[in-house]
Amino acid sequence: MNSFNLLHPQTFSLEKNKLRLYPNILLLSKDLKLELKLSEIFVPPSHFFTVHALGSAKEMLKRNIPIDFACIDEEYFLKELVHDRGETDRGETDRGETDRGETDRGETDHPLISYYKELIKSNPKMIVVLFFAEHSFLYKRFTKLNYSTISLTKNNFSSSLISFIQEIFGRRPYRSLLARDFRANDSFPVDIYFYRPKGQEYSLFLNKGEALSSNKLSALWSQGIGHLEVRDQDFSELISYTLPRGMLKRSEELHYIRKQYKILLGEIFDDSKSDYRVRGEEIYQSILRITERLRSLINLFPAPLEALNELPFTDDSFLGHGINLCVYALVIGKELAKHSNNREDIVVALSVAAILHDVGKAYAYREYSHQQFSLYKTHLNAGLELIQQRKLPLTPLTSTIIREHHEQHNGLGYPEGISADKLCMEVNFFNIINNLDYFHRDALNQEHRPFIKSWEQFYIQETNCEWIKNKFNPQTLHTMKNLRTLN
Ligand SMILES: [Fe+2]
Ligand SMILES: [Fe+2]
Repeated sequence: MNSFNLLHPQTFSLEKNKLRLYPNILLLSKDLKLELKLSEIFVPPSHFFTVHALGSAKEMLKRNIPIDFACIDEEYFLKELVHDRGETDRGETDRGETDRGETDRGETDHPLISYYKELIKSNPKMIVVLFFAEHSFLYKRFTKLNYSTISLTKNNFSSSLISFIQEIFGRRPYRSLLARDFRANDSFPVDIYFYRPKGQEYSLFLNKGEALSSNKLSALWSQGIGHLEVRDQDFSELISYTLPRGMLKRSEELHYIRKQYKILLGEIFDDSKSDYRVRGEEIYQSILRITERLRSLINLFPAPLEALNELPFTDDSFLGHGINLCVYALVIGKELAKHSNNREDIVVALSVAAILHDVGKAYAYREYSHQQFSLYKTHLNAGLELIQQRKLPLTPLTSTIIREHHEQHNGLGYPEGISADKLCMEVNFFNIINNLDYFHRDALNQEHRPFIKSWEQFYIQETNCEWIKNKFNPQTLHTMKNLRTLN
């Protein structure tokens, strides 16, 4: 039976990534070199609005131009606006100052901050990159405002990092909801959609205010649809409606985890602080908190297999991939650890590695062709370098997994081409789930299906096809064979 006919026939394609690819950029700077460097990154039809003084920046506000990306050269404003710094700015220069939580507490804002607040009203999703001066005094003020603010040095950013930031912090056209949260007779104040892999379209699943029929609900399950979607602009309305009623408990939790992951990456890329040891510890603790939240979310499902089938994100994004791997680490990795006296440190190492393993992609490449594959390969060392520089207190096992996550059992992996006998069980396992996630999300572009189905096809492919045989450790593959029995 084709259950799709139970759904609304109306379909549409969202203007995918339009804003992200060609944003309007506001540049507050007088530095021509910076302008040149940025204009090589944001190519037309992206549009630059370069202003040299706050006065003209204020004029811009009157023109109601939606700004997606604001690049602020703090060094310039530090010089120009130094006379504006009243009493309130002194004392903020101390970078070691502990966070006081609240933002303003009635203090007078710095003119640049007030301007920024005005600006962000026009687009709350605006990404701000602060090219900080050596003795940054605005930085802490900006971060307290709770928007996506990234702090970089002028001489230490690349096009790959900027486009990575765009990808991670940019506007998404829709937000995921977990189908598991939906009950018969539920209704919502906004339209709910589902993604049709074939044709890459969004179909209306439930009209605003319409009660969910049990027929529709069973159509959802029979199609193996784990995620539904809501338009980005409707998301906050939906959450404020469902939050007090506890209707979308799991979806809200997954959204929270994704948001925390984003904040964490911002912290990792932030170049403005030098107390790396303290910061490395803080970042590590945030990673552990994220993995713990995910573990609790998994426990909200009736069985681990159901979490495994329904939780993974289907979008092709950095954040989705990291969270998916973390889910596999927490569910399947836990099973694997049973073969090693239930060692909890294995599960922790796998889940921390899941969050961090591809972080070097920000420095290695964005778009690459096959000729540039060598660039892609550098993401392993670039990531480890960043992690080491930030002084994240990773266990040796976690670092090994990150370093070797593209090595292969047949010795044909990279960066070192390590031979099978030198790869540990945890690395073997991680490399399987890393590939499996791509395999699964690729398959989702053809049809909706639960993760377990992808796993079974993957298993057959990896154990039977002669030409790819032994890419993964056969023993580890075999240990994972009976995932269907997970309960
Ligand atoms: Fe990777
Ligand atoms: Fe990966």
